[in-house]
Amino acid sequence: MENSKQTKETVNNVIFEVLRYNPETDKKPRLEEYTVKVTKGMTVLDGLNWIKENLDNTLAWRSSCRMGVCGSCAMFINGRARLACNNQIMHINTKKLVIKPLPNFAIIRDLVPDFEDFFEKHRTIKPFLIRKKAEELDNPGNEFFQSPEELANYIQFAYCIKCGICLAACPTCATDDRFTGPMALTQGWRYVSDSRDEGAEEREQELFSRHGVWRCHFAGACSDACPKGVDPAMAIQLLKRDMFFKQYEKRKKSPARRETEESKEWKPNPDIPKPPDPTV
Ligand code: SF4
Ligand code: SF4
Ligand code: FES
Repeated sequence: MENSKQTKETVNNVIFEVLRYNPETDKKPRLEEYTVKVTKGMTVLDGLNWIKENLDNTLAWRSSCRMGVCGSCAMFINGRARLACNNQIMHINTKKLVIKPLPNFAIIRDLVPDFEDFFEKHRTIKPFLIRKKAEELDNPGNEFFQSPEELANYIQFAYCIKCGICLAACPTCATDDRFTGPMALTQGWRYVSDSRDEGAEEREQELFSRHGVWRCHFAGACSDACPKGVDPAMAIQLLKRDMFFKQYEKRKKSPARRETEESKEWKPNPDIPKPPDPTV
């Protein structure tokens, strides 16, 4: 009875072309095809579950909540990094789904990316509230008051579910594996902009290192891909702006560069050619 009901509801057959790879036994990844009986409302994650239950129980991926909250089912579906549980097959509207693990991550097996480095970088920005008096956190005497306006300052960035999609979309991550990455940088701003936090200076070394915010080219691919509307590209620009104003304030308080002894002796480098005459 259950089976006949499922057959009746089947609206389409869709080919799932899935990357298979076991680094311990395979020389290189390969694509394997499965035909999935798609029913109304079926998500890509449901399709993978259907394959596992009906066709091939060796296929590996990561998932948990199946409601776009835990962030574990992110994968590369038809050329775009997405949450498998948050995308209905019929909405993608195709006869073939090509499913691969997230780009810019090593593969543990099949569709399972290695998040070790991702979470290591997250740890480096100290993703927790820091107070100058550390004992305040263990034994708080009273609540750390925060107004609705102060909450609004960072809450968007706290919606991050650590799915890794922004990293998979980021062109800088593709070329610099030491780049702190959009997720960790965004979480840096999430805490720095929290009115209860006093750890901005402790995070500076990582956030503004050679591989920190200045490596971001502001391509915006991370924000475009993020399934939770976190907007990592904006968080990174806010970090840059924050640092600019800090330096600017410091500079205003120190003597202007042209007034120092060193700068009085400064002469232009004679090897640098003069600019051409203005044409207008
Ligand atoms: S910023 Fe968005 S895409 Fe990046 S890890 Fe967080 S939720 Fe995922
Ligand atoms: S805005 Fe920066 S972090 Fe985001 S995708 Fe572009 S380079 Fe990467
Ligand atoms: S299974 Fe949790 S976000 Fe998809």
